[in-house]
Amino acid sequence: MKLGIFDSGLGGLIIAKAVHDHMPDLDIVYLGDTLRLPYGNRSDDAIYEFTRQCVEFLFSQDCNLVVIACNTASARALRRLQQEWLPGANYPGRNVLGVIVPTLEAALDHGYHNLGLIGTNATVNSGIYPEELKKVSEKIDITQKATPLLVPLIENEGEAWLGDVLEHYLEPLKARGCECILLGCTHYALLKNQIRKHLGQGIEVLSQDEIIPAKLADYLERHSEYADEISRGGTIEFYVSDITPGYKAAAAKLYGREIDIQKAEVA
Ligand code: DGL
Repeated sequence: MKLGIFDSGLGGLIIAKAVHDHMPDLDIVYLGDTLRLPYGNRSDDAIYEFTRQCVEFLFSQDCNLVVIACNTASARALRRLQQEWLPGANYPGRNVLGVIVPTLEAALDHGYHNLGLIGTNATVNSGIYPEELKKVSEKIDITQKATPLLVPLIENEGEAWLGDVLEHYLEPLKARGCECILLGCTHYALLKNQIRKHLGQGIEVLSQDEIIPAKLADYLERHSEYADEISRGGTIEFYVSDITPGYKAAAAKLYGREIDIQKAEVA
């Protein structure tokens, strides 16, 4: 079997690369749903259905374990997939993991008490970060801010406007005295340096490309049923549900080198 990594688009390539760098022997299959991105303003039903189809595609590629790198899909579809679909669809020996709990765990590992979160409208409005945080501690505050302009800015080379947009979005989190900002969206890893620079010293920024690989390695250590089964040829395959020259160029930029992307039929 292989490890599947799914994102609504290409931002998850940053996570896939970080996982590959951390565990270079694992065989990985990446799928980005470029045909239907962005997910961030979609309904729950649409996000669930698209995510389910993409996970099914990764299962068909021999990925018994799939990481949903997309925060929006983790927030809006993961629970339903784990609780209703996986058992009902009769997929024994397969599992789907998300990025929200590991990200919160990383913040708790650092001992922060006053967190800020930025993410898409769908992620923030789901309330899943505060909900999951409450399960482990009542004493930690989290202030959320939906930052829907960031993905289009990243995707359309809108860096020139980034300063004003970050000021607008991050100011309320600074005013709340947040000690640490969680970047709750695959794309935001690309902005981590600008966000760190913007916030200055004294406010930590947790970026999921720096969190998920170690958390996944930890999961595999505790789950030999997957760790023992994953093939270890160090390969990484890339699939997208729609290919354009623009996506190819963006994929190369995000992954840091030219990559061979194939078209997946997911719908
Ligand atoms: N991948 C999504 C996430 O991490 C962001 C892009 C989208 O809206 O689809 O939330």
